[in-house]
Amino acid sequence: MEMEMVKFFHMNGGAGGASYSNNSGLQKMGILKTKGMIEKAVTDLCYSNVNFPKTLTMADLGCSLGPNTLLVGSMLINAVAKASLKMGHKSPEIQINLNDLPTNDFNTIFSSLQEFQESSIIGDKDFLTFLRCRSEEMVVGGHMVLTLSGRKTDDPCDEESYYLWRPFSMALEDMVSEGLIDEAELDSFNLPQYTASLNEIKNLVEKEGSFIIDDMELFDVDWTAWEKTEYGNDAKRGVALAIRAAIEPLVSNHFGEAILDDVFMRYEKFLTNRLPCKEKEALVTISVSLIRKM
Ligand SMILES: C[S@@+](CC[C@H](N)C(=O)[O-])C[C@H]1O[C@@H](n2cnc3c(N)ncnc32)[C@H](O)[C@@H]1O
Repeated sequence: MEMEMVKFFHMNGGAGGASYSNNSGLQKMGILKTKGMIEKAVTDLCYSNVNFPKTLTMADLGCSLGPNTLLVGSMLINAVAKASLKMGHKSPEIQINLNDLPTNDFNTIFSSLQEFQESSIIGDKDFLTFLRCRSEEMVVGGHMVLTLSGRKTDDPCDEESYYLWRPFSMALEDMVSEGLIDEAELDSFNLPQYTASLNEIKNLVEKEGSFIIDDMELFDVDWTAWEKTEYGNDAKRGVALAIRAAIEPLVSNHFGEAILDDVFMRYEKFLTNRLPCKEKEALVTISVSLIRKM
């Protein structure tokens, strides 16, 4: 990733109205759907060791900030506790490494830890490099569960991959037509977003060669279910806020802070107009469970 992009490609920090912490409920629904796969990976890992591990080291890659970071941590701790109990062992010491881009707001994670204790990329080349780097860090038999934005079709240009982003480009184009944004500025804007298909991931894992695919699932994270839980009848508003929490720093760096409220208001309008059909009201997600080969 370009250095300039690294500086501004991070989720919105803090705990304010437009923060990632307060607008990541959709991702939370996706994470909850991976519970079974994570439990299986942890149980298999514990069973596959001749000596039950004294310490388990894990990493949340792309942990971001907010309740989801702690939710993933607690899912891992509970999965280990469950597996230990099943096998009649004491729970091992658990080390969870939180990984994200250097500009991620790690302070907010640490300041929310106390409250928690009381209460409880991608192009092909990038993905190959990612797998190669992880294979060097992981022990043989180590497990890694990846959850990524996905697509159902094999065609990367299918509109399915753009249905959340097309309304954003429409909002920007709208502002260009009103002279509020320079056309050249729009042309030079780059959003580092990629949705993969099951086949693509499978082929790349095989091509890289260090991992066995233990399990793989494609599922919908349904906005309508989310609607009922968090946003009353207004899921589109929630989605617009979630997208804002994720890309505001990038947009602000490129176009300037002054356009933010306007562009995201237009985005919400286009999103609402564009997404009347039920079957599209879901975020396609892929989870894959990998084991480091000998
Ligand atoms: C959509 S967020 C998901 C965050 C969190 N796991 C959740 O489910 O709510 C993706 C995260 O991946 C991080 N990320 C993207 N590229 C990364 C990279 N190359 N290395 C580490 N983290 C990265 C982003 O900064 C962001 O926090």
